[in-house]
Amino acid sequence: MNVKERLADYAEMTDEGLEKYLAKVDCMQKSVIDAARYSLFAGGKRIRPALVMEFCRVCGKDPETALPIACAIEMMHTFSLIHDDLPCMDNDDMRRGKPSCHKAFGEATALLAGDALAMLPFQIIAEAGLKQTLPQYSALQIIKLLGELSGVWGMIGGQTIDLQNENTKPDASVILEMYRMKTGALLEFCCKAGCIAAQAGITKQVAAGSFGQRLGLAFQIIDDILDVTADEGLLGKPVGSDAQSGKYTFVNAVGLEKAKLRAAELSRQAKEFLAEFEDNEFLSELCDLLLERRF
Ligand code: IPE
Ligand code: IPE
Ligand code: MG
Ligand code: MG
Ligand code: MG
Repeated sequence: MNVKERLADYAEMTDEGLEKYLAKVDCMQKSVIDAARYSLFAGGKRIRPALVMEFCRVCGKDPETALPIACAIEMMHTFSLIHDDLPCMDNDDMRRGKPSCHKAFGEATALLAGDALAMLPFQIIAEAGLKQTLPQYSALQIIKLLGELSGVWGMIGGQTIDLQNENTKPDASVILEMYRMKTGALLEFCCKAGCIAAQAGITKQVAAGSFGQRLGLAFQIIDDILDVTADEGLLGKPVGSDAQSGKYTFVNAVGLEKAKLRAAELSRQAKEFLAEFEDNEFLSELCDLLLERRF
């Protein structure tokens, strides 16, 4: 199975899981469910679920064990995107090739849909622990890690620094620290949580976390590069959004060519941590794919 085929397999598993965890229901709060489902199924690349399940697999367990975590992180990520697009944040009208959640459902419902997608992940992982499809101690560790890496010490912290720096020119080191938090933290979560689901030892958990951090930094730098170089139709979200909302990105700080080199170097460093894992070809090829991505 090549990298694209396995990615497609993981995406299919994720879609089935998400369909189960947030089914379409006719109830009084239907609008928030519809809005959350609209964004969840708008066509994301599903990179984060793939990382969770693949790390579980390379640690020797059935990737299906990690499916609740894979769905949980895709929800958390989608929450971050819905709120990121709001007028009070990046003010972007398109996401995943469709009108942003607030454009389709209004700001209040989009806000609540995001909130809902930040809560469900904890419920889903706890339920997997209670049912013991996920080892209970693993479930507890993963819940703690998800709170830490999504919250003020991770994604939300990074988004805060991002907003605080609008219309300023932060140093490259500040920009990278912000990227480590706003994007790297969720990727670090995916890789570590996959290992924890498989009850792998601490050495593997640490290596996976280091891999995820490097990959996450490279991923955000590429995202910034695409914001100035991509084809909007292919990207599925507005090009030039960063300049429009006063973001001084790593590309602005060091220039396009140096930014590309830095992303490649981070990706190379990420791959070094894969030595800890057998059967790591998919992860290594995924790094290459993400470095060369056009959307
Ligand atoms: C976009 O993430 C936000 C960043 C952290 C750069 P993705 O590029 O993974 O978005 P989707 O999930 O494919 O839409
Ligand atoms: C992504 O930063 C970080 C999060 C959403 C947490 P961006 O604001 O650059 O992401 P896009 O480009 O809108 O997807
Ligand atoms: Mg943003
Ligand atoms: Mg944005
Ligand atoms: Mg961006």
